[in-house]
Amino acid sequence: MEELPRKALPKMYYDYYSGGAEDEYTLKQNVEAFQGITIRPRILVDVSRINLSTTVLGYKISAPILVAPSAKHKWAHPEGEVATARAAAACDTIMILSYRSTCTIEEVASSCNAVRFFQCYTRYIYANIVQRAERCGYKAIFLTIDSPRLGRKEKDIKNKMVNPQLKNFEGLISTQDDGSNIEAFDANTAFDASFSWKDIGWLRSITNLPVLLKRAVEVGVDGIVVSNHGARQLDYAPPTISVLEEVVGAVKGKVPVLFDGGIRRGTDVLKALALGAQAVLIGRLAVYGLAAKGEYGVKRVIEMLRDELELTMALSGYPTLNHISRKHVRTKHERP
Ligand code: FNR
Repeated sequence: MEELPRKALPKMYYDYYSGGAEDEYTLKQNVEAFQGITIRPRILVDVSRINLSTTVLGYKISAPILVAPSAKHKWAHPEGEVATARAAAACDTIMILSYRSTCTIEEVASSCNAVRFFQCYTRYIYANIVQRAERCGYKAIFLTIDSPRLGRKEKDIKNKMVNPQLKNFEGLISTQDDGSNIEAFDANTAFDASFSWKDIGWLRSITNLPVLLKRAVEVGVDGIVVSNHGARQLDYAPPTISVLEEVVGAVKGKVPVLFDGGIRRGTDVLKALALGAQAVLIGRLAVYGLAAKGEYGVKRVIEMLRDELELTMALSGYPTLNHISRKHVRTKHERP
């Protein structure tokens, strides 16, 4: 699934989905850091029935794997985020819609019946977008807070990337802004460099939905996503799996901790759960599935990960997610 879009997509689109910031150090590390973690199997455990199901914010999902918010799905497939949403629903899991989507909040909401969450950046004037999502039945707001400005993705600059129409902003941004100046366009559609901790209260005041922060350890929110934006913002930020345990320790079970960055295998999911994540999100894998085979491709990606996780749980002797705990993985620094 990682290979297919490389062939199927124009270079500019593939580079946008697969690339990371600057040297792409964190991009590589996000994936490689998983390889330094091993799984301790238990044997002679009854694993004839494996149960992958769990809940996030009280909503039941078939496996601890959600679809991360990512922008511009119509570059991957003409049906865009609608196809991704249908695939997530077919797999009984939750998609988080990016507010920089190429299908509207309303189109995705009416595409199929399912629980969905909504992601936004820190931009005051788009308060009405949060309220639109609430009206359309999205169940939680994920606020991405690692982006006071756009990270420098040099492949996009070299490709002279031009943004597609981000449908949720129709009527909100100047029609002269056609997306050809990436920096200006992104400044208008996403980021507010002055947004700070005190503004979280403002966001909570305009919505009744639970608010989760991406990449932060703070109370007063309803959950946390440990994320470095798929290594697309600050290069040389640590790989997310290397900080997960520390974050979980600091949160002390007060709110759920979700995780993303570098999930490519079922074993990666198990490792993240063992280090304390309640569930993981997949970013690139979902977009690659979409680019390769549309809705069916996203569905296959989720199914493949789920199958791999199930086999891993059987082979390592953990019949339910509750059996998986910190002592079941070893990091590089622990004795073999
Ligand atoms: C993203 N990500 C992202 N995050 C977010 O909060 N809003 C967004 O609009 C986007 N857009 C976006 C586009 C693309 C092409 C990618 C690959 C990623 C980050 C995303 O939610 C997630 O944190 C990472 O993708 C997780 O890492 P993996 O699974 O891609 O390794």
